[in-house]
Amino acid sequence: KEKPQWNDFLHIDDFDKATIMKMLDRAAEVKALLKSGERVYLPFKGKTMAMIFAKPSMRTRVSFETGFFLLGGHAIYLGPDDIQMGKREETRDVARVLSRYNDVIMARVFAHQDILDLAKYSSVPVINGLTDYNHPCQIMADALTMIEHVGQTCHKLQVVYVGDGNNIVHSWLLLASVVPFHFVCACPKGFEPDQKTVEKARRAGISKIEITNDPKEAVRGADVVYSDVWASMGQKEEAAHRRQVFQGFQVDEQLMKLAGPRAYFMHCLPAERGVEVTDAVIEAPNSIVFAQAENRMHAQNAIMLHALGL
Ligand code: CP
Ligand code: NVA
Repeated sequence: KEKPQWNDFLHIDDFDKATIMKMLDRAAEVKALLKSGERVYLPFKGKTMAMIFAKPSMRTRVSFETGFFLLGGHAIYLGPDDIQMGKREETRDVARVLSRYNDVIMARVFAHQDILDLAKYSSVPVINGLTDYNHPCQIMADALTMIEHVGQTCHKLQVVYVGDGNNIVHSWLLLASVVPFHFVCACPKGFEPDQKTVEKARRAGISKIEITNDPKEAVRGADVVYSDVWASMGQKEEAAHRRQVFQGFQVDEQLMKLAGPRAYFMHCLPAERGVEVTDAVIEAPNSIVFAQAENRMHAQNAIMLHALGL
């Protein structure tokens, strides 16, 4: 296969700061165009996208499919029972077959190796729609949302994530490897993010990175308090045990009070209200979770434009 590596969108740190910022600018530009009701910009006209889902989804599926359609393209949804990648058929065969029909492949998988294999064997761009390791499209949408609400990302901007050191945290760390800000992750002992990813972000020397087990201390001075489910997809059988271990890591009104009046609340959704976040926090005026969800579509449109060289 012959495609430049930048065609794929697998990890945020595969790109330099200028490219990431360009994609975010483009996202804002195309967002304004779509919001104006304008439907004459059709860069994906005549193009098709295969969307592979080994896990459930609302936002990722609907935002990719809608965004691709609004810009002129056609997206095909392949659910967990459809192609059964790695089970009914080897990943490298799926990659090569879909490459013959489609201009771009988006995939949500369990093992991170599956997205790497798809990218290796496909001759068209592959976009990561979440793996057990990371969720780059989400964090691009989150960066866009932060720019809209807090202002340009800069070394002073403090994002405090409270909860499990999971795929969302890894993408925050990889963003922090290329764009400067202050990232704090407060998680229970034993639920810290991947050590290699933390080291990578620290080694990049671009952002201030803190990993702590004290959520109360962590949120002080936050511009954004961010939360995600305690048991991710594929870990649901651990949910009861995790609820015990994560006591004290719920984002409630008291914790938001400690963060201060200017702190926004963010969550990638879906949220389990009353578990990792209270209903009051998610419904408060400074909660920007639905702006975040909306921006999935706009961030991804820009990612696809970049991947397709448009
Ligand atoms: N945030 C997110 O990826 O949502 P879905 O799982 O609904 O796609
Ligand atoms: N960490 C969550 C994110 C869902 C968008 C999961 O992987 O299930």
